[in-house]
Amino acid sequence: MKILLTGASGNLGMALLAYFQTQKTITNHYEWLTPSSSEFDLLNIEQIKQYLQINQPEIIIHCAALTDGKLAKTNPEIFIQANSYATKNIAEYCANAGARCIFISTQSVFGQYPKDIYYEGDKIGALDNYSLSKQRGEEYLQQIIPNQHVIIRLGRLMGYYPHQRVKFFQYAIDALRQNPPTIEAVADEYENISSAVHVAKFIERALTHQDIKLYHLVSKGGASRYDIMKKIADYFQVTTEIIPISLQKMQKLNNVPNRVNLLDSRYHQADSPIILPHQPWQDDVGDYCQSLNLSNLTQITK
Ligand SMILES: NC(=O)c1ccc[n+]([C@@H]2O[C@H](COP(=O)([O-])OP(=O)(O)OC[C@H]3O[C@@H](n4cnc5c(N)ncnc54)[C@H](OP(=O)(O)O)[C@@H]3O)[C@@H](O)[C@H]2O)c1
Repeated sequence: MKILLTGASGNLGMALLAYFQTQKTITNHYEWLTPSSSEFDLLNIEQIKQYLQINQPEIIIHCAALTDGKLAKTNPEIFIQANSYATKNIAEYCANAGARCIFISTQSVFGQYPKDIYYEGDKIGALDNYSLSKQRGEEYLQQIIPNQHVIIRLGRLMGYYPHQRVKFFQYAIDALRQNPPTIEAVADEYENISSAVHVAKFIERALTHQDIKLYHLVSKGGASRYDIMKKIADYFQVTTEIIPISLQKMQKLNNVPNRVNLLDSRYHQADSPIILPHQPWQDDVGDYCQSLNLSNLTQITK
């Protein structure tokens, strides 16, 4: 069976590949297609159509996306093109070929209809261009292949990969490893966080089970960047003082709410088939730090 993994060079894609390569049943069972962004360019619909027709994947794990929020602010059209229309074309291929699509989405599809906690069935409504483009991607999948998709909504992803698009966890570790006297971090914006390993295990199960369509996969509780930075600093016993600052001081880029709190499906679906551990975010960050396998941060080499 052929699996196409888009975005294999991204933070999540690399984490997924690293996990799947350790799972013999998966490596033996499936043929993996991992095209680069120039071979499967989300901005080139003809190329995407051709790639899918030639390679005929039976499952598409769709991680590729434009993710730079700054660029989305100034150039919304290419985000709709890459994150919405490309997903529509993938869905149309799946509809014709009888294939399935596992789509990675984001907590930030919520916000227009504020709530304390968001469940899977809650009405989505994004507030910024990047999130809107992901929302449209979700909607296309639901319309075009209602029974052949899985949508996984994630919070801030825990990962550390040498990648050109540095995300918060990588930034935090790189900043702390310099051991400066102080680092400022935003303390009044809370988000969920998600473990890349949990995403991989969830997808592993979704490859053979078709019982879930929409899933929130996040640690318990919301954390600010300050909270996360503190937790990593404590774990590695870095002496840097972390100074809490407000979003206002950071000149918030997007009009997104400063608290998005997804409720993980494991928490409230009594019959949830997913039996991954569901822990507070502090424990997941601790596991993440441990997985880096370092006694101190200065051991990291890029
Ligand atoms: N990171 C998070 O905190 C987070 C949170 C929630 C949801 N998500 C979602 O999770 C998925 C993976 O995110 P990530 O953190 O791994 O993102 P990332 O590190 O920015 O990686 C993006 C991936 O998409 C590819 N890509 C970018 N533009 C492309 C194009 N025009 N055509 C084809 N491929 C293109 C990149 O390829 P190149 O390397 O060649 O550019 C890269 O493989 C995304 O769908 C994102 O929306 C991420």
